Amino acid sequence: MAITGFYIAVGVAICLVVAQLLEKPYPSPHGNDPMTVQYLERGGWKMVFRASAGNGKSVYDAWTKGTDTTTTKPVDMARSYSSHFREANLYYRWSSLNIKYVKFALYKDNLETAYIVFNGDGSTNTNWFNKTRVLESSWSDLTPDATYNIFSVIGDNRNLRNFFINRKYAGCSGDIGHFVVSDGPKGSCAMDVHVRHPQFVYSDMNSADVWERKQFQRADYLAIYVKI
Ligand SMILES: *[C@@H]1O[C@H](CO)[C@@H](O)[C@H](O)[C@H]1NC(C)=O
Repeated sequence: MAITGFYIAVGVAICLVVAQLLEKPYPSPHGNDPMTVQYLERGGWKMVFRASAGNGKSVYDAWTKGTDTTTTKPVDMARSYSSHFREANLYYRWSSLNIKYVKFALYKDNLETAYIVFNGDGSTNTNWFNKTRVLESSWSDLTPDATYNIFSVIGDNRNLRNFFINRKYAGCSGDIGHFVVSDGPKGSCAMDVHVRHPQFVYSDMNSADVWERKQFQRADYLAIYVKI
């Protein structure tokens, strides 16, 4: 019995040493805990919308009409298939809020993977998403002067490509863009075809890319913030 106890003790000690060796000597660059909304709102940003990929509900209807949204604000960015969140009465209040800036951001695996800051001055709840209002972006070629064939919330609604930022159309294989909300199974290009909708498909490079090259990622969340 005493011998068995000895081996157990040695086994436990070895496990502890191995666990210590495997632990990195510095904190995880991704952070161990889910990003909190409170953290994301630092500096005065206020999250007014968050859409969840793959929950089966239209992002366009959620943003423009509040359809199937909750008004309960999420607390962190841990992956879930929760309802889209929209601030209560946002549509009616937008123009009276004196919004100076609007931030549009994507999150994947608990990281902010792309963003655009827009000038929100005098905007409506849809026309802020316009190339002329771009102030800053994580994509270096996403500027007011760049060429786009589509840059709007309604996007290419026939193909349910909303919040669509696209440089040019050239028959699926030549289409080039930065970002799309694929809001349902409508279009027939690679950017539209997913097992679940909606999907937030973004160029994973520092620039627009050919959609069919598949250098695109799917974000878990799309969030919109305002700053007064
Ligand atoms: C973007 O804003 C400009 C200036 O207000 C406007 O002329 C243009 O129609 C807008 N673009 C879209 C796609 O709505």
